Order: sequence, then C-alpha cells, then structure tokens
Amino acid sequence: MPSPDPWRALDAQPNVATLIAGLEARGGTPAQRRLRRRFLRFVPVRRGDRVLEVGCGSGVVVRDLAAMVGRRGSVVGVDSSRAVLAAARRLCRPAAGARIALRAGDGHRLPFAADRFDATLAITVILHVADPITVVREMARVTRPGGRVGLQDQDFGMVAVTHPDPELTDRILDGVVRHIYEEPYSGRRLPGLLRQAGLRDVRLLTDVFQDATLEPWTKTFLERRAEYAVGFGLVDGATAQRWLDGFTATVAAGAFVFTMNYYGAVGVKAR
Ligand SMILES: C[S@@+](CC[C@H](N)C(=O)[O-])C[C@H]1O[C@@H](n2cnc3c(N)ncnc32)[C@H](O)[C@@H]1O
Repeated sequence: MPSPDPWRALDAQPNVATLIAGLEARGGTPAQRRLRRRFLRFVPVRRGDRVLEVGCGSGVVVRDLAAMVGRRGSVVGVDSSRAVLAAARRLCRPAAGARIALRAGDGHRLPFAADRFDATLAITVILHVADPITVVREMARVTRPGGRVGLQDQDFGMVAVTHPDPELTDRILDGVVRHIYEEPYSGRRLPGLLRQAGLRDVRLLTDVFQDATLEPWTKTFLERRAEYAVGFGLVDGATAQRWLDGFTATVAAGAFVFTMNYYGAVGVKAR
C-alpha cells in the first residue's frame, strides 16, 4: 500500500503545486527563516564549503546555503521529485553566491562518489523517508573525513496550540500524525541515528518555532491537518470546520499560541 505521507511521493500527489507553494510559504515565514539559519550556523556551514542538501525541495535552504558559502563554495541539492526540482531550478536562478546544482536522486542511494562534501544536510526530510538509517549512512559516505552531517526535523509529539477544545485538538493532531508518519517523533531521534551511522562528536540543538498571530503557513498547516482528519475518518466535516473556527475565535481573543519543537543534530565523520 502506498504511504499516506505526501512528501514521500510528491510527484504522485494531485495537489503537488499547493504542496510546493507551502514549502515556499514556510521558508519565507520570518520565525522559520531564523530557525533555519540558527541550525546552519550550528552545523556550521562555512565560506568556501562544498555542501549537499538531500531532499532540497523548492530550494529554500539551497538559496540560504549559496549565500553562506559564497562564490568559492558550491551547493548541490538532490530531490526525488521532478516537479519540485523544476520549481527549485526556477526559484534558484536569481540566487546570489555559490554555484548551485540541482539533481534528481534518492537519498537511499545518493548519486555521488564517497568523501565529496564538506557538509551534508537533510532538513525536514528524515521523517519522510522509508529507511532513515540508510539515508544517514549514505549522507556519511559522501561526506569527507572531518566533514559534518547535519539533520533537522520537527517533532510532531512536541506541538502545542491553544484551542477551546483541547480534547478534539489532540484527537485531530495526534490521530493525523499516527496515520501519516511511521516516525512522527523523528526530531528527538536524530542524534541516535547519527551515532548509529558511525558519526562522532554528535551535538544537539533543540529549537522552537513559535507563532502567536496565526501566520499564513500555520493556518495552512492546521487546515491540512483538518482535511486529513476527515479523510482518515477521525472526525466528520462539520467537526473539522468547528475545530478550525475555534482557532479564528482564539486569534480574535488575542489568545493564539502555536509552538513546535525542531531538533537539529550534527555529527563529524571520522578522519
Ligand atoms: C518537507 S520537504 C523539505 C524540503 C526542504 N528541505 C525545505 O526544508 O524546504 C521534503 C522533501 O524531501 C523530498 N524527499 C522525500 N523522500 C526523499 C528521498 N528518499 N530522497 C530524496 N528526496 C526525498 C521530497 O520530495 C521533498 O521535496
């Protein structure tokens, strides 16, 4: 049976354009931009580095990386979806800084020789792949000795949101992630995966996305959760709508808070 996770087979989704637009909306949200940059500094990504991003999507991180590594560096993005790569090519064309190359490929079998990159990253990707340890081992293989492998994921067990009906909120949020993801708590497991792949000096950065105004990306995230909850038979359409209306009322009362933990983990390849 195909996975219900749309990010695992993006090209097969009827709403692929909407999902790609969602990546750009998330990437442009100021709190998300800060969160991403804190992680890239934590890795750290340095000027002149050759960097690979696995599961690069529409190129949100690739564009940041190109500016960070500068003209002496290079950035390669790999993704298994041809649709998202077409969008990334268009969106990355005006990017300043390093040379950018975008390639089709599967993280379970990266199309690169060993020891090629100074830093290899996967950002909100590991929770979507079928076999996380195989992907992380591949990332380690293509990284040079002394280079860094960095992973960052949300953790859907660490989502907090204000709503007048907390029981319904749990039923929808927890129920949906259990249906979609084999590994909804991916974030907290990233340091263990790096060690299992043989990386050394593993460090963890726990960070948090926060939104107190119901930003467009958060609104879309909650609307998509409501849609899935109906699709999975967790609630009926009227209950899902009542749940979404509850957020509108919470915002109007000045009481809206949404937070989600992100875990970033980095390990070094032995020399
Ligand atoms: C949620 S998006 C993250 C995109 C980007 N890293 C960002 O933060 O904006 C996940 C991406 O991983 C890609 N992906 C999923 N499974 C993959 C695999 N096995 N190999 C390569 N890419 C994969 C998807 O096509 C999608 O573009």
